[in-house]
Amino acid sequence: MSQVTARALPSGSSQRNLTTIFSGTAKIVAKERYRNFCRLTFRCPEIASRALPGQFVNLYLDGLSGETQFERSSLPTAAILPRPFSIAKIVPLRKGEIQSDAPQAFSVLFEIRSTGTSWLAQLTTDVPVRISGPLGKGFWLPEGTKIAVMVAGGIGVAPFPFLAEKLKSQGVETILFLGAQSKEKLPFDPVRAEFPFMRNGKPLSYWGVDEFESIGVRSAISLDKPEEGFFAGTVVQLFEAWLSTLRERDGIAIYGCGPIPMLKALAEIASANNLLCQVSLEERMGCGFGICFGCPIPIKGDSYKLCCTDGPVFDANEVDWEAMGEA
Ligand SMILES: Cc1cc2nc3c(=O)[nH]c(=O)nc-3n(C[C@H](O)[C@H](O)[C@H](O)COP(=O)(O)OP(=O)(O)OC[C@H]3O[C@@H](n4cnc5c(N)ncnc54)[C@H](O)[C@@H]3O)c2cc1C
Ligand code: FES
Repeated sequence: MSQVTARALPSGSSQRNLTTIFSGTAKIVAKERYRNFCRLTFRCPEIASRALPGQFVNLYLDGLSGETQFERSSLPTAAILPRPFSIAKIVPLRKGEIQSDAPQAFSVLFEIRSTGTSWLAQLTTDVPVRISGPLGKGFWLPEGTKIAVMVAGGIGVAPFPFLAEKLKSQGVETILFLGAQSKEKLPFDPVRAEFPFMRNGKPLSYWGVDEFESIGVRSAISLDKPEEGFFAGTVVQLFEAWLSTLRERDGIAIYGCGPIPMLKALAEIASANNLLCQVSLEERMGCGFGICFGCPIPIKGDSYKLCCTDGPVFDANEVDWEAMGEA
């Protein structure tokens, strides 16, 4: 692995300073539903102005879990626990809503899975939600990065719009590879895009993601289920196919987010090719602040780190992937 020094992506506060964590309520100012996904935008300058890509927020299910001790006691513990979500994007508020240069709003993008996400997805604009953040440590930009490649499995794409905007603002060439089982499982509508790369004179993919293409990030989509115009295979195979077309591999930084087997495969390729790779990991959480010790991530050398405060972004090289698989 080449020696590099790391610098934080630019933004507000130190990543480890807990005094900068906001805890309070924020109103939903926009809501979008797409298939089994939901995007909620919150007006919360305290979080929007301090957040770094890769950090997350905790959303509390107060309306569901009940405001009183009596109401809470009749509910399963899981309803009381906050739900962690990556900060997907810093959102500029529309003209007339607010006049300020400082970021005012941010969004989260989530898949509707069970109790908490179903409840959050039925909330409407103007509803206040109890929230804390920004939490955890975000992605960093290794010194000397020439190309940043984001590799996402399904809803693992959630933290990448924010990261992509930061990388672009730093003048880094940025690419997104997004994988899903089928077209119906994609969190975005695919759009016709420029060919991200060619192989034997033929394009490997010609569908991309508008959210990224519109800010100058080239993108390609892989589907497990073969479909005309999409790369057939996993997103890690798509990444590997792209990598195999490159003569020069210096200065490539990989950012991964998605299911554990996908991240494990990505980490193996990165390591085999001597490439730097950061992964955003998910672990069940209690507090989100490093207090309950409920979110251990196995680290090589028989130790653990906490997903909520040491992560959720880790150097793929330090993670004990065999032990992750056992979890
Ligand atoms: C740091 C971090 C960032 C995340 N970012 C996103 C995101 O941007 N978009 C998104 O769709 N999902 C994200 N997740 C996963 C998301 O938190 C879960 O999908 C969500 O909590 C499920 O809630 P539920 O009530 O629907 O499911 P339930 O199964 O009812 O939840 C029960 C308990 O398990 C926890 N839980 C369930 N699934 C997961 C999971 N995959 N990871 C961690 N805890 C889980 C819940 O938080 C809750 O405490 C993230 C998880 C972490 C740890
Ligand atoms: S969630 Fe409590 S220590 Fe990480």
